[in-house]
Amino acid sequence: MKLKVLGILLCSALLFQNCTSKKAESTTIDSTTTVNKIEKTSYGKLPTGEAADLYTLKNSAGMVVKITNYGGIITYWSTPDKNGKYTDVALGCDSLGGYLKASPYFGALIGRYGNRIAKGKFTLDGKQYTLAQNNGVNALHGGKKGFDKVIWTATPIDGEEPQLKLTYTSVDGEEGYPGKLDVEVIYTLQKDNSLKIDYKATTDKPTVVNLTNHAYFNLTGDFSKEILDHEVMLNADKFLPVDETLIPTGELKAVAGTPFDFTKSFKIGARINDVKDEQIKYGKGYDHCWVATDSSKTLKSIATVYEPTSGRVMEVLTTEPAVQFYTGNFLDGVPAGKGVNYKFRTGFCLETQHYPDSPNQPKFPSTVLKPNETYKTTTVYKFSAK
Ligand code: BGC
Repeated sequence: MKLKVLGILLCSALLFQNCTSKKAESTTIDSTTTVNKIEKTSYGKLPTGEAADLYTLKNSAGMVVKITNYGGIITYWSTPDKNGKYTDVALGCDSLGGYLKASPYFGALIGRYGNRIAKGKFTLDGKQYTLAQNNGVNALHGGKKGFDKVIWTATPIDGEEPQLKLTYTSVDGEEGYPGKLDVEVIYTLQKDNSLKIDYKATTDKPTVVNLTNHAYFNLTGDFSKEILDHEVMLNADKFLPVDETLIPTGELKAVAGTPFDFTKSFKIGARINDVKDEQIKYGKGYDHCWVATDSSKTLKSIATVYEPTSGRVMEVLTTEPAVQFYTGNFLDGVPAGKGVNYKFRTGFCLETQHYPDSPNQPKFPSTVLKPNETYKTTTVYKFSAK
């Protein structure tokens, strides 16, 4: 009997909590400060039984970003067009099941090492480490079960600029990498319609780290359309040529006079089929790392993308030295989501990062993290329209 009463009380308390949290989506404290409340809903379960949640962040301007603690994946990202209409511009799946089945890293956090490590091997302090060869002969994006496929601990932080803090501890030896790595990623939806991503990591043994986010964008908001008419500008006067397995040759090549010159704005499609260019051939289009002209570790603009029909503009700012510009050349109709089958070149990525294969390329800026050091990088995706 007592248990029954307790049950009823508990249910009423939960119901009350649900009602109150739904009502209070945003609260005005005074005439200048608005607290935007983060909504949390269940996003289903992994085969392991672990539960995933979905967090909805809104700002007062109207931008909405949904993030799941499964892989830190951004599942939805609405941004304004020239008429002030907000539409989702991020490719993704319809449910957790979709992401579990097959996703080419849509919207996900990538680690420990974003991009490729040649032959899945590297040597650190005289010891060789072996990683999964999950991309032909190479290691890609952290391995078979990278940070995009794990459950992160999430802490929502309401505010005028709502934040989602995600933490994950990668155990020593996970996916072949040395050292226990404690990772923290904070997504902040800012009032100027930008999403800031702050990455932090510490280790108990020397290791290598290269974290990024793998959002795919189509600024038309229509995922059945190719991205070839988007106009791209990259503040990068060099890029890293690759071999046929997309591993950098080690050379930093000037973009001037090549289809890789985006120092002035060019349509993605203008030179993407220039098959006489060996690099275009290897990437099946653009799938390369551009080196920021400004090599400082300050937050600087590295890319601007403009989509003429919607008027949407996306600017990418980063503290990182480089950006992988990938034009969805491996999208081939699978997976499906958001009403479409994602086809060839219907999305593009701007993955801010250190250079690919740095652990094997001593001339590249180091990606080694030692105990007592803190890995810290920031990237901002800022939206506007004209
Ligand atoms: C890589 C591509 C790869 C894609 C999805 C990008 O970061 O550069 O080659 O196909 O991720 O895996």
